[in-house]
Parts: sequence; C-alpha cells; structure tokens
Amino acid sequence: MAGDPSWVPPGVDTKRANVARVYDYWLGGSHNFLADQDLGRSIAAVEPNIRQIARANRDFLGRAVRLLGQSGIGQFLDIGSGIPTQGNVHEVAQRADPSARVAYVDIDPVAIAHSKAILAGNDQAAIIDADARDPGKILELATASGLIDLSRPCGLLLVAVLHFLPDADEPQRIVAALRDALAPGSYLVLCHATNEARPAVAQAAETVYNRSVTATLQLRSRAEIARFFDGFELLDPGLVYLPQWRPDPPAATTADPSEMWGLVGVGRKP
Ligand SMILES: C[S@@+](CC[C@H](N)C(=O)[O-])C[C@H]1O[C@@H](n2cnc3c(N)ncnc32)[C@H](O)[C@@H]1O
Repeated sequence: MAGDPSWVPPGVDTKRANVARVYDYWLGGSHNFLADQDLGRSIAAVEPNIRQIARANRDFLGRAVRLLGQSGIGQFLDIGSGIPTQGNVHEVAQRADPSARVAYVDIDPVAIAHSKAILAGNDQAAIIDADARDPGKILELATASGLIDLSRPCGLLLVAVLHFLPDADEPQRIVAALRDALAPGSYLVLCHATNEARPAVAQAAETVYNRSVTATLQLRSRAEIARFFDGFELLDPGLVYLPQWRPDPPAATTADPSEMWGLVGVGRKP
C-alpha cells in the first residue's frame, strides 16, 4: 500500500479527519486525505452550500485585509490561519503595502509544515506553532519573531477559528486578552459560524462534524458572537452574513444570506 506523501509531517494521522484539511478540501486544495474528503462530503450532504461558504469566507478575509491595508495597517496577527491557499493574508496585505508583515498562527501540523514551506526565506511573514487558547504565548512569540510590534496598530484576524473553541475554553476571555494587548487603532476581523438562522441544519452539521474530527465545533448565536467585539467599535455594516460585508461589485447573488452560516464583522479598537 502506498504511504503518505512526503510533505506529511511525522506523527500526523491521515486516517482521521481534521479541521484544517477538511476546509482545504472544500476550497479545492490538495492537502487533504480520504478521511477529510469523506467528512467533507458528509457535511455537504447536510449543507449543500458548504463549498460556496468556504469560498465566501476566504473572500471576506481578503476584503477585510484589503480594507485594513488601505487604512494603514501594516502588521497582521492571523490566528487559526489554516493551510495556505489562494489569497493568503501576506499576499493581499502586501498588495496595499509591500512592507506589510504577517504572523500566522495555527496548531495543525499540516498547516504549519505547508506554511513553513511557502514562507521559507520570507522575512515579512512566518508561521507560529501555538494554540489560540494560549494568547499570552502567541503574543510573546509574535513579538519575539520581530513581525508584530504591539506598540503600533495591528490587524487581529480570528477568521473561522473561534467556533472550534467551546465555552469551556473561555473564548471571550481569550479575545479580551488579545484586545487588551493591542494598541489603539488596531482592528479585529472576525468570522464565526452561527446556529441562528437554521438551527435544525446547524445541529445536524455539528453532530456529523464532531463525530469525526479531533475538535469540537460550537456554533453560537448572534448575541454571543457580537460580544467578541466588546471594546471594539464595529465598522459598517456591522455584524452581517458573509456575502453582506462590503461586497465587491457585482455583489454575490445569494438568495438568502443567512444560508451562508458565517456572521462576520470588523471592529476598531478606539
Ligand atoms: C476553517 S480553518 C480557517 C482558516 C483561515 N482562518 C480562513 O478563514 O480561511 C480553521 C483553522 O483554525 C485552526 N485551529 C483550530 N483550533 C485552533 C486552536 N485552538 N489554535 C490555533 N489554531 C486552531 C485549524 O487548524 C484550522 O487551520
């Protein structure tokens, strides 16, 4: 039987579906395995829009980073950055400002290995192997890397990651710790899956997902997601569904934006 490809880091169980690789599969990437594809297809059976949602999430991330770049933000801390794909944050940011710096953070060994490979020799971006549940360590390593200067405004990206932190991990406390460390004029970019619009589908998707991956998906209500912006001023149009956040013309045609699951927003620390 053929073994795993050479880019798979030692110790990775490719027979078990994994958050980063399932997302890579939905985006059409090549860093995923049968177990990830099987789970990806099972979720697609419950939610046929899932690939479109993953793409809408990447598009939102791109629009938000572009806006921050145009607003003078030259450094980004991207927590739960994922397996590199098209439109990576440093590529988008450096279009607005060629000197922009990005500290990526993830816990997934495949995301880390692939990020290291594509960022080798790049002194303006690096990947940090750390857990979102340890904001102190993230801030320490990001500062030590020379990429993030906490005395200056920074773009904090928490895009499609906080719904992998159950309440027991106290995600509100984590975001507050990161916010408090940021300089005034910093921004929070957030995407979080919600159970608000379609609770029955949400529950089915949560069950299928949590049965198969080594992570816990916890969808949240609009009110719970809005609380992540405590201490930030939400930019227009506020907390909205993915395609509704400052769409590029022509606006994506989605019959019902709430079918896109992700509530998103960008806030500025005054
Ligand atoms: C759905 S992907 C999102 C990737 C990217 N932010 C985007 O929106 O395109 C979620 C990422 O969060 C990472 N992740 C999940 N839990 C994490 C944690 N506790 N600490 C750091 N990263 C985490 C996963 O490994 C995965 O790469």
